[in-house]
Amino acid sequence: MRIAHKTEKSGEGKDCRNILSLHCKLCAQSAHIKKFNPEEMRLAHDDLRSFLAAIRKSGDLVSVDQEVDWDQELSGIGRLGCERNGPAFLFNNIKDYSPGWRIAANPIATWRRMAVAFGLPADTHVRELYDVYAEREQKPVAPVLAKDGPCKEVRIAGDKANLFDLPIPMVHEGDGGRYLGTWDLVVSRDARSDWVNWGMYRFMIHNERLLTGFPRPTSHLGKMLLDGYVPQKRTMPIAIAIGCDCLSHLAAAATFRIAGNEADLAGGLRGKPVELVKCETSDLYVPASAEIVIEAEVYPDRVNQEGPYGEYPGYRSGEMGNAICARVTAITHRRDPILTLDTTGFMDSSATSTSISGAIAIRRRLEASGVPVTAVYVPPEGGVHLAIVAVRKGGAEVAQKVVNTLTVRRALISKIIVVDEDVDVFNVSAVLHAFATKCHPGRGIHVVRYEGRANTLTPAYDQEERAARSGASVALDATWPPEWPRDGTPVRATLDSMYSPEVQRRVLERWSALGLGK
Ligand SMILES: Cc1cc2nc3c(=O)[nH]c(=O)nc-3n(C[C@H](O)[C@H](O)[C@H](O)COP(=O)(O)O)c2cc1C
Repeated sequence: MRIAHKTEKSGEGKDCRNILSLHCKLCAQSAHIKKFNPEEMRLAHDDLRSFLAAIRKSGDLVSVDQEVDWDQELSGIGRLGCERNGPAFLFNNIKDYSPGWRIAANPIATWRRMAVAFGLPADTHVRELYDVYAEREQKPVAPVLAKDGPCKEVRIAGDKANLFDLPIPMVHEGDGGRYLGTWDLVVSRDARSDWVNWGMYRFMIHNERLLTGFPRPTSHLGKMLLDGYVPQKRTMPIAIAIGCDCLSHLAAAATFRIAGNEADLAGGLRGKPVELVKCETSDLYVPASAEIVIEAEVYPDRVNQEGPYGEYPGYRSGEMGNAICARVTAITHRRDPILTLDTTGFMDSSATSTSISGAIAIRRRLEASGVPVTAVYVPPEGGVHLAIVAVRKGGAEVAQKVVNTLTVRRALISKIIVVDEDVDVFNVSAVLHAFATKCHPGRGIHVVRYEGRANTLTPAYDQEERAARSGASVALDATWPPEWPRDGTPVRATLDSMYSPEVQRRVLERWSALGLGK
């Protein structure tokens, strides 16, 4: 198997295996070349299909064989699934489309399905999932390059491509159009360096070959386009990979550093490398196991209409507006392809995905700025607008530092509840109790206002604030003031705080003897 690249250094057609052992500038990946072995790929949950088989086994997938309409009906079922903490769905019979086309809705929108994606038992506690993510994130694994892969089973050249041949759903009533890539992995490369980015960005179908998309200007794809390709007046190649293994999508959606390589992160989360194959019409590389790959180029000098869309905070806010515009250059897909869909809204896949990667990123930033943080949780119910931060020693100064640190760059989360370390951040009732009883209604509120970097999708902002990207974040201090004397600080009236260890032990023994569990 050969991977030939054109470079200033290696020259046209030279096999880049020699330089791959260090770092291939062309692929912009540190990579090793490995032969594609379809048998091996099926062993782990390396692709969407083996993951779907695993969640079917754990009772977290329902297959729907009756005909379902791509126009809202199918996504309505998925929507209700999210709202009722229900299963994922595999729709096998889509109105107007041949039986080969299938749609999988909300692959990892629950902690149970997220656990299976990590190769863990479905009932693994979210706390453990956070720990596993944090540990694996620290051990990146470089991808390997393959010559061929399942995503190349069917190849459609750009001039033959028609997006309407794919069963792209109308997700919500009132959306600007049919949306593709609500659960995707978009590959792009920086115009001025070898940085390759994976992100998760939605795209709306404009016509047979034209897509409009909404990468936020603060997103890495947005930055690459605005800072690199637009000034150079060059089209930007992108590849929209749909239906890859779930942990690659999780890596794409992760809050990650500028110039960070999400393919390495995905390898770390999986504990083994992602296999990549080269695109047909660009030098970008996509996961070989992808169900569908849409190759396209983004115009540097053209915008087109996009939106509105029922968004992840759980609302449709905003209107149709100008957005990036991309022309399809090729489509490749597996046989009997499965298009993945996030039925975006309350408790969707963003809620779980961003919860886990966002909370760990928050924790690392707070640690780096000297906050005595002990735990962070981003509850899915908060629509990625709320974080709970536990600290060893709280008080006004710490709460202010927390909100200052978390609003320096992108300010996606606007409410932070700061609690003492004895409050379990994953227990939302305990957090609500601490907030309701310990947060001083005057002194406990710490607000920071900012311009130009607010989250334009925050439903609470008015139109003017959204246009100016101005906003505010608040830390709600639910910790005891550290200057209060110990004997003047209220004691929580719970078994674990108000009873001696001896009484606690006897009570727990009795509890168990009464058959009430541990
Ligand atoms: C289901 C889902 C859909 C998303 N859609 C978008 C989108 O359309 N535009 C956007 O800017 N971010 C979107 N995001 C958030 C980004 O994927 C996330 O911010 C990620 O960190 C982007 O990568 P980046 O940091 O490399 O820009 C979405 C996230 C999820 C989980």
